[in-house]
Amino acid sequence: MSTIDEIKSKIDIVDLVSEAGVKLRKSGRSYTGFCPFHDNKNTPAFVVWPELGTWKCYGACNEGGDIFKFVMKKEGLDFKEALKKLADRAGVVLQAYEPREAPEVKEAHEHLRVLLEDAVVYYRTHLFNNKEILTYLREKRGLTDTTIEIFGMGYAPHGYDNLLKKFTSKGYSEQELIDSGMLSVREDGTTHASRVYDKFRNRIMIPIRDENGKMAGFGARIVDPNDIPKFLNSPETPIFTKGHILYGLDRARKPIRTADQAVIVEGYLDVIALHQAGYENVVSPMGTALTEDQLRLLKRSTKKIVLALDPDKAGKIAVLRGYETARQSVSEKFPVFDEAGVKVPAIDKDGERWTDAPHLLRFANQLSVDIKVVALPDDLDPDELVQRGKDEWAKLIDLAEPIVLHTMKSVISQYDLENPKDKAKIVQELEPFIAGVSDPVERDDYRQRLARMLRIDERILFATPTLPQIETVKSRRRAGGQARRAVPASVAVVNPTLRIESYCLGVLLHKPVLLYRVDRKLQEFGLSALTVEDFEYTDHQLLFGVVRSAVEQDEKDHHHYVMTHLPEAISDISMELLTYTDALSPVDDKLIEELLARFIDLRRMNALANNNQLRFLQEEDQLQDGANNKMYQEQTLQLAKLIHNLDQAKRKLASKR
Ligand code: UTP
Ligand code: MN
Repeated sequence: MSTIDEIKSKIDIVDLVSEAGVKLRKSGRSYTGFCPFHDNKNTPAFVVWPELGTWKCYGACNEGGDIFKFVMKKEGLDFKEALKKLADRAGVVLQAYEPREAPEVKEAHEHLRVLLEDAVVYYRTHLFNNKEILTYLREKRGLTDTTIEIFGMGYAPHGYDNLLKKFTSKGYSEQELIDSGMLSVREDGTTHASRVYDKFRNRIMIPIRDENGKMAGFGARIVDPNDIPKFLNSPETPIFTKGHILYGLDRARKPIRTADQAVIVEGYLDVIALHQAGYENVVSPMGTALTEDQLRLLKRSTKKIVLALDPDKAGKIAVLRGYETARQSVSEKFPVFDEAGVKVPAIDKDGERWTDAPHLLRFANQLSVDIKVVALPDDLDPDELVQRGKDEWAKLIDLAEPIVLHTMKSVISQYDLENPKDKAKIVQELEPFIAGVSDPVERDDYRQRLARMLRIDERILFATPTLPQIETVKSRRRAGGQARRAVPASVAVVNPTLRIESYCLGVLLHKPVLLYRVDRKLQEFGLSALTVEDFEYTDHQLLFGVVRSAVEQDEKDHHHYVMTHLPEAISDISMELLTYTDALSPVDDKLIEELLARFIDLRRMNALANNNQLRFLQEEDQLQDGANNKMYQEQTLQLAKLIHNLDQAKRKLASKR
């Protein structure tokens, strides 16, 4: 048994929740009470299942999990902290974990940073000796000398060995210069005297720092309009991972917190110009899609995020977000899916542009951040906009709309509202999208809005298939009577959910690439792609997150990525899962179908349990004042629809076999 399972088996979730101040009442095999995470004193919509060791709120939160998730949420802890706390409580000794970075690695990183700081000074000197470039920055770009200083801008001169000579004479080795990304290595190596050369030549240099202000790399803009690419970034190095850094965050962190809002723009120079104009809560990615890690970085300071995009891309967010349903219809124009993941169309000539983040909504829901979108006026960069007038920026940002609303509007704008067929298409495209909004009140609001926008009756909008036969919990009225059984020590072993989850996860850890195959198949069945929500156990959720990130990056081999990113706090359980599925057959259609079937089983079991519970809650609610009736009804319909789809998927799968 892993440490985590041991802790779970030794802690009674009913005790834990009760001690946290939640009064629980027994009802059949579960316990019910008022949810401690949202304000509601009318209906007890918070349910605990001692046998499974899980809980769920059917009210506003619509969230659930195991003991770890409960403590994390209740006390605002991260997984590691929750683990410590519950291990103490269970009397389980945690192994001491290896520190992440060995001291010599840390030192090497520090060395690279020192080198880059030296490079900042070097480029700066060249900038202040170059009248032409200075004039460009001052006059064409409207930057003051203070701004240029603050952002550490510089200039890399013409020539292939300026930095090479200077820095080797300072005592840096060629290898260090390569490792830091300042030198490139020649492929042919024969015709030239030197195997290496300066990566950055005749470019305006913009230092990129991490959120703590530590040097990470450079962004380098052309001076000569004929050079390509327009921006050249440092390569990924041990201290520079594009997806983990947001440009300007070191300076923007405090202002973001103060404003309780972060604005994301597309360009470095936009960030710089906006900061100069007094808008300091602005950051940008580095020509790559926005990642979950970047949103997580921002979330430390605010949950309110505004994307200020050029009109073209603001439109594409919608197109891409339709990715669950609209895939077929857009796929001719946008090849969005392949083995390596959801791919965004290469918008730019050089292919290394910030495209859109098709996963944005999933991230937003998962991290519960609130994302708004605003499209910039035609043909104007933020930097040009503030040069025209400082207030225009503030006015523009005020116009930002929630990403869901934004998407609704832009999907609608692609169709003809006078044509009933088009209306049907809009609904088809948007329905699953709106259904994905986690807050029920918000969700309802979007539905009403959509109905109004389309001028149709809301009830038609989301007509649901008939409810399949669902077994009822017979014992649910026999409340109170039986004494609660202690959680069996083997709970982790006998629980079918755990067994299936472990199998699925083990397979994915071995073969992360299967994730996309399964996602694609699920979507072919009209079901949503896998998310952490498919796993009930917090440790499984964490591991699934690693698999997801592994396939979303393309720097490293997926399996290698997984093995090097397993959270140290749960390394034992990861190993156990890996061993458990070690004798795995090679990747073939059978394995995929097996995996798919298991995931569908999981969803189905989960949905059925939820359905039973909902009925019970609905009856309770009716006995009170029926205040939550509408909410429960809606959830029931959603579930019925889901179960229907899952059943259909299972049938299709079975017929294929
Ligand atoms: P833009 O082309 O909009 O540049 O690219 P910009 O920042 O507005 O620069 P100016 O105003 O024309 O000088 C926006 C961002 O996209 C990334 C860079 O991060 C850039 O800041 N990008 C762009 C690349 O990474 N590579 C490119 O070749 C072009
Ligand atoms: Mn620009």
